[in-house]
Amino acid sequence: MADFHKSRSGDQDDRVRQFDQIIAKSPALEAVLEKIERVAPTASTVLILGETGTGKELIAKAIHNISPRYDRPFVKVNCAAIPLDLLESELFGHERGAFTGAIAQKVGRFDLADKGTIFLDEVGDIPLPLQPKLLRVLQEREFERLGSARTHHVDVRVLAATHRDLEQMVDRGEFRSDLYYRLNVFPVALPPLRARREDIPALVDYFVGLYSRQMGKVVDRIPEETMAALRAYAWPGNVRELQNLIQRAVILSGDGVLPNPLPSSHLETVTVMSRSTALKEVDRAFILHTLEASGWMIGGPEGAAAKLGLKRTTLLYKMKKLGISRPAQGRGIAFPVAPLDSTESSASL
Ligand SMILES: Nc1ncnc2c1ncn2[C@@H]1O[C@H](COP(=O)(O)OP(=O)(O)OP(=O)(O)O)[C@@H](O)[C@H]1O
Ligand SMILES: [Mg+2]
Repeated sequence: MADFHKSRSGDQDDRVRQFDQIIAKSPALEAVLEKIERVAPTASTVLILGETGTGKELIAKAIHNISPRYDRPFVKVNCAAIPLDLLESELFGHERGAFTGAIAQKVGRFDLADKGTIFLDEVGDIPLPLQPKLLRVLQEREFERLGSARTHHVDVRVLAATHRDLEQMVDRGEFRSDLYYRLNVFPVALPPLRARREDIPALVDYFVGLYSRQMGKVVDRIPEETMAALRAYAWPGNVRELQNLIQRAVILSGDGVLPNPLPSSHLETVTVMSRSTALKEVDRAFILHTLEASGWMIGGPEGAAAKLGLKRTTLLYKMKKLGISRPAQGRGIAFPVAPLDSTESSASL
């Protein structure tokens, strides 16, 4: 088994590379990595907590990859994505005829994860009636398939994650306290990105490198103001949001410069805006940037619509909705929403 330090030294092994992709410059995230380095070699259950997009799944895979079980299965179950009545058979399996529609036997995820690791994602969404059965498998490592009396014994390491406040759910009677204590043996809390801003420049560099390589583009200049804006932004969607924004910025970059994906004049407002409003602002900034880069030409192979991968009419519609119109010659400000027809005639010169 490769230990944590060895795995960060650039060994080309696949599971090692997985661990290398965790960018951690902040003391807060460094502390998390030290914690998981300590718990990974044990068989302990780990509960990973954090807002959406903070890297919970990445951490779960890393724990498995540096554990002695690294060459055994890593089986993920998203407890929130599977309909309530199917989750039990998904986790534990069923025999043929166990219920209407059970036309064949099904092997459950706990069986599939035998000798390996099971990752119970969104564990806070496990319905109450199913919680005793999960508690039993955590305590005894045994369960029965639906429609069968035979007890299955498995050797499974359990990792779980949630963005919910389980303690509060216990207080409200929405989550069993005994299951909570069983899961909470070794909690690992991933701080939101806004609480570890030191990680932002490193993440930006990492994703710019990743996407420019993928797209065969050279992007070798990130203006200081752009980096400062990215560092100051609130990142409600955490690392996933940053990753998506950088991907779009790399797509739109020309002449080796990364465009600012955040509208700087709206920065202060963006930090307090709702997520959907913030995303709309980002769309607006990208469309504006592309229009400017295309000299406000909308249609045609060199036009903004083609560059954005949109139909000309779709782009016109979006511009109208977002209040984008061509600025007066020689000035950098946009006029208020123009009627669709006049936008089109002035923009498709
Ligand atoms: N420290 C990091 N270094 C590099 N990439 C990261 C880091 N943290 C997160 N990512 C990337 O961000 C994206 C989101 O991470 P992940 O899916 O693990 O988040 P999550 O907490 O499970 O989110 P959700 O609650 O929405 O499921 C992934 O593409 C992941 O690889
Ligand atoms: Mg996740």
